[in-house]
Order: sequence, then structure tokens, then C-alpha cells
Amino acid sequence: MCGIVGYIGTRVAQPLLLEGLKRLEYRGYDSAGMATVDAGRLSLTRAVGRVQNLEDRLGELGGFGGTVGLAHTRWATHGGVTEANAHPHRDGSGRIAVVHNGIIENYTVIRQYLEEKGHTFKSETDTEVLAVLIGELFDPEGGVDLESAVRAALREVTGAYAIAVICAAEPDTLVAARKGSPLMVGVGSGEYVVASDPAAIIAHTTQAFPVDDYHVVKLTRDGLRTSNLDNVEVTPKIMQLELDLEQIDLGQFQHYMLKEIYEQPRAIRLCCRGRIDAREGKVVLGGLAQYAKELVKSRRVILTAQGTALHSAMIGEYLLEDLAKIPAEVEYGSEFRYRNPIIEDGSVVIAISQSGETADTLAALMEAKERGALALGVINAVGSTIARETDAGVYLRVGPEIGVASTKAFTGQVAVLTMIALFMARRRFMAPDACARLMGELEQTPDKMERILEQDDAIRTLTEKYVERENWLFLGRGYNFPTALEGALKLKEISYIHAEGMPVVFIANKGPQYDKVMNNIEEVRSRGGHVIAVATEGDKDIGRVAEDVMWIPDTPDPLSPMLAVLPLQLMAYHAAVLRGHDVDKPRNLAKSVTVE
Ligand code: M6R
Repeated sequence: MCGIVGYIGTRVAQPLLLEGLKRLEYRGYDSAGMATVDAGRLSLTRAVGRVQNLEDRLGELGGFGGTVGLAHTRWATHGGVTEANAHPHRDGSGRIAVVHNGIIENYTVIRQYLEEKGHTFKSETDTEVLAVLIGELFDPEGGVDLESAVRAALREVTGAYAIAVICAAEPDTLVAARKGSPLMVGVGSGEYVVASDPAAIIAHTTQAFPVDDYHVVKLTRDGLRTSNLDNVEVTPKIMQLELDLEQIDLGQFQHYMLKEIYEQPRAIRLCCRGRIDAREGKVVLGGLAQYAKELVKSRRVILTAQGTALHSAMIGEYLLEDLAKIPAEVEYGSEFRYRNPIIEDGSVVIAISQSGETADTLAALMEAKERGALALGVINAVGSTIARETDAGVYLRVGPEIGVASTKAFTGQVAVLTMIALFMARRRFMAPDACARLMGELEQTPDKMERILEQDDAIRTLTEKYVERENWLFLGRGYNFPTALEGALKLKEISYIHAEGMPVVFIANKGPQYDKVMNNIEEVRSRGGHVIAVATEGDKDIGRVAEDVMWIPDTPDPLSPMLAVLPLQLMAYHAAVLRGHDVDKPRNLAKSVTVE
């Protein structure tokens, strides 16, 4: 995915655009660029690498004037990481600049058509093709203004896009449009900020609206006009952004990942607040109320997700089968969409996603929905595409997650899935007191997380001992099999350590598989493996077999992944820092994959 920021108003655009880009840098950090229109002239520059490189380049150029402009931070999809491929891209005349997130699937056909008309291209990107097409159609004398040219061009393209467009010949206009990739318009007083996500808007206004698929927004300093591709005017639904700057600032932390690991106790409190009533043994999930009956009577639940969210889906599968006694299965979104999945009557699909924008998860949800399944979401980003496509759902309420490596979203997803399982269990087979007991334990999970975080220094020291090892193995069973996969993913993602060999990290909490895990530990030890264990406080036997232990408080087995994952997150974090890596911007990884 990439990050887009656009501005039109009365202030100089450059500082606003740079600040917005820095807030969106987690969306892509291969290269960045900016264009503004000042005194009827388009200024444009780009730089490979971080936004800082673009800022340095702008400094060398003496900065850009102009109160309308756009900027982009890129995550390469078409064409290598070069300055020529960075956005913005210009049309043939050099008057129009375009930034784009998504993929224009039929760009080769359009490029051929434009080449036949005599156009040449400077990059390998699909975006430049779109810019040149808009330029080809732009004909102010013939009555085709920028908005009409954008609309006409978008009628020709297939694929996904969120775009922002400016033009030297129309210095008082910014045009934005979307299909499939996220885009929001922040509405200020006499000014607008267009961005891929609210993080780049919130410093300027709390009023915003998401651009809908196939909608084109024309912004001038005097107002806005939103229409569809047939030029039928539509009224945008302006909403209040539920986000404050503090949530997206680093504060005292060196990295977002560490900040977000530490936020977990508070995040899980917020996630569960008002949703569980342990005394009554009740779960109240407002988002599902309308479909409670269908959900409780459902015959099969399909959980679909990618990456970390897939690991929480796996835990969800165990929870639904174990507590609610309902057949459940986990599907990679990327695979589900290309099979011919059988959706029987009474099937419910739950899409799990932090960003709510993962293309494969979205496609799987749509596929299941079209085949008649009730479509539910467990999503963090409010108003995101997946959230809007579901029939109903439960938001995580863990706050924005900016670190590329997902942490608090994982525990939030598991907490929500636990509540969904209990919600169904209580209405199906589970005895009220058993349900109430588990809810009481769930309420205590944030306090227990706090106790785990107190071991941070000890976990750092432990990690130092092993940090030079090139291979690690993570093992866990039952509920903590997915936790082990998540621990391995965390380490791989940010430390680039191959997490399948030795040393061996065992999740050896006091659950039903404890004895089996102890046997597995013995097997590893007898082959010379170095064992690091995540164990339950008070376990006197583990010290005999493990060289190092990270402790978690005692908790019922279904809730243990929410605790066991914390030491693994901290370990991955410290390993990456000790190896000198940029934790929040791991190489070759994007926060969410909004293209296939
Ligand atoms: O936004 P989503 O939860 O849908 O993202 C899914 C995966 O791309 C994501 O979990 C990815 O694996 C993270 N980098 C994990 O740390």
C-alpha cells in the first residue's frame, strides 16, 4: 500500500504535505514525492528512500510555494524502487500531476493505446499511464475540465485506485477519486485535506468523509462536489473522526511497535469495556445485536484473514469449537477467493483485519457474501472498506496501530473472538456460571498483561544471549499453536531471522497440553537444543528443562494466547533493535496489503 496526502486551502501546502507524509510513512517507505501548483506552474520532485530524503531534496530546491498540492509515499508494485517510478507522475504536457494507491490492471492496453497516439513514458508504472490518459482527455477549450477528464479516464480503467490529481491550468482545484483503495477527505474551514488515512488529517480537522467506490470529489477553496462516474451528484456523509493526536504520536517510545506492545493492557480494557458483564454472565455486542439469532443458529463459521490476523482467526476457530460448540474453519483470504468454496445455508463468514483494507481478506468476504453467507467483521479501522462491506461486526477499539508488525491488534482480535465465542456459547450450551467465570478471567487479562510487561528488561537481557543465532524454532500446542506461529512471524518480520531452527521457544503454560509440551522440550534438549520457555508463574518444573523462562500469570487455557504472545512480541522487538534494524519500517513489508 502507499500513502496519499493532498491539500487545497489558504495555507502553504508543503509543510502540511510533509507532515502528513510522515504520519503515513508506515504505509510505504520506498520513495516519496510531492507536487504543488503555484502561480500557474507545477513544481514536482521525488526522492528514493524515506520521507526525510524528500524533505532534504525540497530544502536543496528552496522549497515549493502554492496552496494546493499533493504528496505520496510509495510501496512499489509496478516497477522498481527508482526516482522515475516514484509518485507524483505527470501527463505528457507536464501540467497534470497524479498520485495513486492501488493497481491499474489494464494499464498495458491503455499504455499501448497512448503510445499509438504518440505519447512516451518515463517510468514503468501503471500510475503514469493514468496521468497521461487524464492529460490526453483534458481539454479545457473543449469543455473538458480536470474533474471531467479524471472521470472519463476512470471509466476506462479496471483495478483498484485511490488518486489525487492537480493541474497547473486549474490552479484552484484538487480532484480525488477512489475504487477499492482507501481515501478520506478532511473538511476544514476554507480548506480540505485528502489522505489515505485519518492520521494525516486529524491535526487539521476532525470532520471528514470516506470517499466511496467510483466517486469523484472536486475540491476548491469555495466548496466541494462529489459525484459518481456518471456525473450524478452525491452527498458525502461527513463524520467526526474518533482519533486524537496523542494516539498517533510516539511519545516517550523509540518505536511504534514498542508503544503498541505497552498499550495492550489499556487497549484490551477498552476493547472489553461495556461488552462483558461477568456478574450476569452476559456478553453485549451491540454490533451483532441485529444478527444475534442468525449467528447463534448458524451451522458453520468460516474465519478469513491474512498474516497476524490469520493467527488470531486460528485461535478463534479453537474458541468457537471449544466454547460455542460450532464447526469453525480458517481460510486464507488469498486462497478462498480462488477456490469454488461451498457455502451452505446457515454459514457465517467472519473477516478479521486490523486495517480493514487487506485486498485478499476483502475479496474472500465478498465471495462468501455473494454465495449467501452472513458476513461479519472483526476490524480495527473504523469505516474501512471491509467494515463497510460486512453485514455487521465488532470493532476492536484498540486505537490506531501504526507499527508494521501487528501487536495490539492481535490481542484485540483474540479478545473480540473470545467475546463472540462466549456470546454464542451462552446462547447455545455453556452454563451461565462457567461463562461468567471465563468473563471474569477475561476482565483480569489487562492486569495480567501489565505484570508481563514488567519483565521487559529481563526479556531484553535474555534476547541478547541468543540474538546472534540465525535460526529459531517456536513451538506451542492447542490454543498456543497459533501463538507460536505468531511469535515466529514477529521475529521473522522485523529481525529477518529464520524462525524455524534453534534456539527453541516453547509456549509451556499450564494448559491441557502441558505434559505433552514438557515431553517435546525433553526431546529438543536431548538433541542439544537451547530451550526458552513461556511458562505459568509458579511452575516449579520448567526451570529444570528450560534454560530461560519468561513468565505469564495463570489464566484459563482459552485466554492464554493473549498473555503468551506478549513476551514473544517483546523478544522479537529486542532482537530487531539489538541487530540494529528499523523496527517500524521492516524491509520488504507493508503494513497492509491492499493489492493482490
Ligand atoms: O490489516 P490486516 O490485519 O488485514 O493485515 C493482515 C496482514 O497483512 C498483517 O497481519 C501482517 O501480517 C502484519 N505485518 C503482521 O505483523
